Amino acid sequence: MLQVIELKKSFGGKPVVKGVSFSVDKGEAFGLLGPNGAGKSTTISMICGLLKIDGGDVRVNGLSIKKDPMAVKRKIGIVPQDIALYPTMTAKENLVFWGKMYGLKGREAKAKADRVLADVGLSDRANDKIETFSGGMKRRINIGAALMHDPELLIMDEPTVGIDPQSRNHILETVKRLNEQGMTVIYTSHYMEEVEFLCERIAIIDHGEVIALGTKTELCNRLAGGTVIQLKVDPIKERFIQRLKTMEAVANVKIVEEDRIEVFVTRADAALSQIVALSLEHRVQLLSLNVKEPNLEALFLQLTGRSLRD
Ligand SMILES: Nc1ncnc2c1ncn2[C@@H]1O[C@H](COP(=O)(O)OP(=O)(O)OP(=O)(O)O)[C@@H](O)[C@H]1O
Ligand SMILES: [Mg+2]
Repeated sequence: MLQVIELKKSFGGKPVVKGVSFSVDKGEAFGLLGPNGAGKSTTISMICGLLKIDGGDVRVNGLSIKKDPMAVKRKIGIVPQDIALYPTMTAKENLVFWGKMYGLKGREAKAKADRVLADVGLSDRANDKIETFSGGMKRRINIGAALMHDPELLIMDEPTVGIDPQSRNHILETVKRLNEQGMTVIYTSHYMEEVEFLCERIAIIDHGEVIALGTKTELCNRLAGGTVIQLKVDPIKERFIQRLKTMEAVANVKIVEEDRIEVFVTRADAALSQIVALSLEHRVQLLSLNVKEPNLEALFLQLTGRSLRD
């Protein structure tokens, strides 16, 4: 339902989005994962028609944002990174305001606001002023505002940044439920766990470019030596390390502290039994052993040499 085609944007001559392309199917939850300054918000603002496009196009159900901006905007609900609510108005008044902005009549807007308040789990706070809400509650109302006009596509820009874990879980569950009910979702975050929890397909974006795109499994399969086995041993013996490095299932070995080793393996099952056998042979005591499955954080590190969060 959404096609993002070679999207480009520069600020003051400096390109910050450099030909971003991806498409999202109806009913899909799609993740945009990238570190601070990667160009996620800029990309999203162009998709929603909030920011002029320098190059490329965005199509929703075949309609171009350049040719039919109003029609495209109606189909999209945007949850911006910054809260956009009136603090001195109540939660319900805020929602009704947004509904009217999208052309709902008074009674319609009020009825819809009640349903949206239930969706985000804040019916009991409907008539309280936004200024009395916690950060997490404001975020939930902000999501509600994006739902007032029954969008086909919900785009969320880091909706869980800076809020308490309980609100965060609530938001994640709400988005999951909306998606299961058929809502198409684009979810932006620099939290790998959130994107993994919600999204079938994920684009990893860095310096304004999509550097990897696929399902979590596809992306993790790209990771050479993706599984890390952390060992604590006594003592660390040079010959033991050398032998580890020559094992077929092992891609790399790193000594991280005086008694800790990280073994990057392609097949954890094969590597584990070999590591145990090798430690017996070399009379190296295994004090602890921990298997870390491959994840997107590791892929990002491999692709860029940096971590997703600084
Ligand atoms: N209005 C603007 N004027 C000038 N530069 C901008 C503007 N908006 C964004 N930028 C720059 O564009 C780059 C991408 O910013 P953007 O906000 O899209 O990143 P992001 O991936 O959303 O980051 P974050 O995770 O911090 O929200 C940054 O270097 C930022 O400084
Ligand atoms: Mg952003």
